Amino acid sequence: MKGVILAGGLGSRLYPLTRITNKHLLPLYNKPMIYYPLETLVHAGVTEIMVVTGGNNAGDFLRLLGNGRDFGLKQLHYAYQEREGGIAEALSLTEDFVGSDRCVLLLGDNIVEEDISAFVARFAEQPSGARILLKEMPERSHLVHLGVPVFEDGRIMRIEEKPAQPKSPYAVTGVYMYDADVFDIVRTLEPSLRGELEITDVNNEYIARRAMEYDVLTGYWGDAGESIDQYMAVNQYVAAHWNGIGHRETTSQGETSR
Ligand code: DAU
Repeated sequence: MKGVILAGGLGSRLYPLTRITNKHLLPLYNKPMIYYPLETLVHAGVTEIMVVTGGNNAGDFLRLLGNGRDFGLKQLHYAYQEREGGIAEALSLTEDFVGSDRCVLLLGDNIVEEDISAFVARFAEQPSGARILLKEMPERSHLVHLGVPVFEDGRIMRIEEKPAQPKSPYAVTGVYMYDADVFDIVRTLEPSLRGELEITDVNNEYIARRAMEYDVLTGYWGDAGESIDQYMAVNQYVAAHWNGIGHRETTSQGETSR
């Protein structure tokens, strides 16, 4: 199982903080943001990892992370995305690295407190297809900025990206697991209205093939790139409650607040 962390994009929702640096290098309490998804993967036993980044600050990732020794890695791989072509385009840059293996893709601005090992193990047992992690988010104000699944009889029928009227209280988090078909699927995509190859289109193709499974996170999940307010909220959560991956607080605040 290969790991991929996406750390490209413009981070324009956090301007001017991201004018002279990459969003994923900004602090989340006492560590750079990129540390959290890296720890999530390593904790789940995924140790062959590629970081995809872009822009003027790509070299800073090498200076910060090197070969990943601080995370117990022998080597860390890097890819460079030349323009903000979307999450699916960034993933396509890892095709040679992933090869015929499967991959766990993490968005570099997503903070996942729960140990995802069990979900990765379930995916490894799946004969093929994809697996996503959902998080219940009763607040509609968040859902309109995220991917939201539409259910029928407990199955996901489709995912709607940033829906004005969310049809379920669940967010599609930035933890995605794919078999090697994903790269062929990305090749079939057309850019969306915002000019990006959308990961939601990839997921909808797996759903159409009836090859998509899901799990629901019960621990804290936050998208630190959603807005400046969310960036601050995730910082506050981490400062007050973070005890490391898998050591989640059991307070009601820890369960539901973002
Ligand atoms: O956070 C979860 C959400 O992430 C999902 O619910 C949505 O379905 C999914 O589309 C995505 O939405 P966002 O609007 O939050 O994606 P964003 O453009 O912020 O990009 C997420 C990460 O991917 C970010 O850390 C940077 C990286 N990225 C993004 C783009 C567009 C790249 O590396 N390259 C890119 O071209």
